[in-house]
Amino acid sequence: MISLETKRVIIAVLSFFLLAALLIVGYIEGKKHVPGTKAAIVVSDENAQCVECHSQQSNATTAVAQWKESQHAIKGVGCLECHTADEGDIDAFTHYTHTIATIVSPKDCSRCHKKEFAEFQRSHHAQAGKILGSLDNVLAEVVEGHTGMHGNAVATSGCKQCHGSAVEFVRDDEGNVMKDRNGIVMIDPETWPNTGIGRVNPDGSLGSCAACHNRHYFSVAQAREPDDCGKCHLGPDHPQYEIYRESKHGINFIAHKDEMNLDAKPWVVGKDYISAPTCATCHISATPNQPVTHDVGERISWTLRPPISEKVDAKAIKVGKETMPWEKRRENMQDVCFQCHSKQFVQNFYTQYDDLVNMYNNKFGIPATDLMKKLKAANLITADIPFDDKIEWTYFYLWHHEGRRARMGASMMGPDYTQWHGMYEVADRFYTEFVPEIKELIEEGRRHGKAAGASQVEKLLDEVLGSEYHKWYLGKLSPAEKAARAKQMAEFKKRYAGD
Ligand code: HEC
Ligand code: HEC
Ligand code: HEC
Ligand code: HEC
Ligand code: HEC
Ligand code: HEC
Ligand code: HEC
Ligand code: HEC
Repeated sequence: MISLETKRVIIAVLSFFLLAALLIVGYIEGKKHVPGTKAAIVVSDENAQCVECHSQQSNATTAVAQWKESQHAIKGVGCLECHTADEGDIDAFTHYTHTIATIVSPKDCSRCHKKEFAEFQRSHHAQAGKILGSLDNVLAEVVEGHTGMHGNAVATSGCKQCHGSAVEFVRDDEGNVMKDRNGIVMIDPETWPNTGIGRVNPDGSLGSCAACHNRHYFSVAQAREPDDCGKCHLGPDHPQYEIYRESKHGINFIAHKDEMNLDAKPWVVGKDYISAPTCATCHISATPNQPVTHDVGERISWTLRPPISEKVDAKAIKVGKETMPWEKRRENMQDVCFQCHSKQFVQNFYTQYDDLVNMYNNKFGIPATDLMKKLKAANLITADIPFDDKIEWTYFYLWHHEGRRARMGASMMGPDYTQWHGMYEVADRFYTEFVPEIKELIEEGRRHGKAAGASQVEKLLDEVLGSEYHKWYLGKLSPAEKAARAKQMAEFKKRYAGD
């Protein structure tokens, strides 16, 4: 028999443990973010003035309202932590007793986010502002727009909104930076507003973290959305967004977005979500074996941008620069896929992808590029002025629009882009425009005393068209192959014959 006293002791001890347990659970709950409630924000004394006044400015309240929703506000990272400036900074100005700047560069963020900064600075993204020497830039500054007039409008509102401007200021005759009547530094409107991915900042750092992390929420959930990359990665020459949307990955994302845990920290594929990968999943976010990376090239093995694709490390190897080998980059990407797919599935996919890139290169990219070089060497088109000859536009469409679409479609499982917006258009462009235009240029060359050059081009064209890839065009399929084609065609027709 247990005495009443013992029972009392047992109950007292049990109650103690129960209470302690409740307290611990309560404590943890208090720490956790409970849905429907908001974690308290921290406004330091220094920032109180900024927050107070900017809450009342009818046109400036969004900054405060969005900041209040951010992790920064919860952690006490206020306006001044980002906007503060040294007196000596070129863009510094005195604003209600504080020295601040409007521009907030990656270097400013790096005070607290060193790893992200270092990875981002070494990425291709950070280099994207350096496009002045490119062929595309001739389009913006010469063909479509004009550099001589004030404001290179096409580049300012087009290219540079994605690639990034070099931020400059309005200056007086002595070259001093000017301020408006409120004492605010005047930034050259040709160069800002701009959140291009490779912006060149006054402090020398490259890019804009706000290209992906929209201010002033600075939320990871938003950056994990495919639309985030879609500001830049879309359209006729790099339709990654459209490709993703038509792929099974995009379909699953839309159907299961609610289960994606987009604001989880950390956000590990295969653990925190399984429904679908987003752009971030494959190119940036963590796997059980890899941390988040802000160098989007670390999982890419080919470059699909140039007229002829090569492995991403090819250029570096040529000039003897150290870089991560393409094999390692491919391993990194496959590690992402393996969280949802089997080994064979992924490796077979990569074979399909490589085959498409090689097919495009060998059948169209390389021969078309060789022919363009020959045309220039033979003086049948101008060598130094791009886009003044019709065939230069034809060639540009072939590799820069259609050829890229085909390769990009295959890289990210968008069959319509690989086929109908891709290889079909490449072939159409090649056979019905590029080849006939070369023939015309050869004839024209002969009429204008450039017979030798014309013959050289003709010889190369004959070689190309006589090759295994193109001889069908000359009607040179072997009898066996012709017969096989005819048989297949007859079988296909039977489908519609009603039996
Ligand atoms: C007493 C009111 C007041 C206070 C205090 C104040 N601001 Fe402002 N701020 C303004 C007004 C007004 C503007 C101009 C808005 C406009 O031009 O539409 C402005 C503009 C700005 C701009 C944009 C400047 C540009 O280039 O257009 C930034 C950035 C800014 N404030 C940050 C801050 C920060 C950081 C603090 C705290 C140190 C702060 N403000 C304190 C009223 C205030
Ligand atoms: C985490 C860093 C960060 C914090 C914190 C921050 N800002 Fe900003 N702010 C930025 C960035 C980045 C820009 C974009 C400027 C650029 O293009 O470089 C910006 C731009 C602005 C602008 C001008 C752009 C516009 O849309 O009008 C204002 C005004 C401004 N901030 C006010 C504030 C105020 C007020 C606070 C505090 C409530 C604040 N900021 C807190 C990073 C920050
Ligand atoms: C003074 C320090 C400081 C500065 C400057 C700063 N941050 Fe932060 N940032 C933080 C802290 C602290 C957190 C919260 C970290 C956490 O919760 O793990 C954070 C979180 C973030 C997050 C994650 C938000 C989320 O949804 O979880 C992003 C994105 C971010 N910062 C971007 C930026 C960018 C971009 C800049 C510059 C424009 C910047 N930060 C400037 C301290 C800073
Ligand atoms: C909508 C945003 C956007 C606009 C506008 C834009 N680009 Fe791009 N550009 C991109 C993206 C995204 C890529 C990378 C595509 C990829 O990797 O598949 C790119 C790639 C390039 C490249 C290839 C870089 C390399 O390393 O191979 C050059 C050069 C270029 N763009 C120049 C320009 C010029 C010049 C203009 C204006 C005539 C322009 N772009 C307009 C987004 C844009
Ligand atoms: C190309 C788009 C892009 C750019 C540019 C970018 N970020 Fe991010 N960032 C992301 C994505 C996507 C995530 C979410 C990663 C994940 O899934 O956890 C992220 C996450 C973060 C986080 C949260 C930490 C973490 O590891 O999850 C911080 C902090 C951050 N970024 C800071 C920065 C800073 C600072 C810059 C500028 C130097 C920057 N980012 C530029 C896309 C970008
Ligand atoms: C503001 C425009 C912009 C945004 C937003 C943007 N990118 Fe880019 N991205 C570019 C440009 C421009 C390039 C080409 C850079 C170059 O080589 O000059 C590029 C290149 C790339 C590359 C090729 C990198 C390499 O090393 O070859 C990848 C992968 C990429 N971006 C992924 C992303 C992802 C994923 C996101 C979203 C989380 C994103 N980008 C958001 C503009 C952007
Ligand atoms: C399922 C994973 C996956 C998703 C989701 C994904 N990508 Fe990719 N992406 C790839 C693979 C694989 C490649 C090719 C890598 C290689 O060449 O080894 C690639 C290549 C790229 C390239 C390089 C193109 C070039 O010019 O060389 C860019 C840019 C890019 N993706 C952007 C995006 C964007 C933007 C999104 C979202 C709209 C996205 N990706 C979604 C896996 C993915
Ligand atoms: C978060 C999970 C996840 C990740 C990571 C992922 N996938 Fe998928 N993938 C899916 C789902 C779900 C489907 C749709 C399955 C179906 O066809 O029913 C799919 C489908 C595919 C398909 C079939 C496309 C079709 O139209 O039938 C290919 C190929 C593919 N993925 C390749 C990859 C590659 C390559 C990677 C890495 C670069 C990758 N996936 C990463 C979840 C993922």
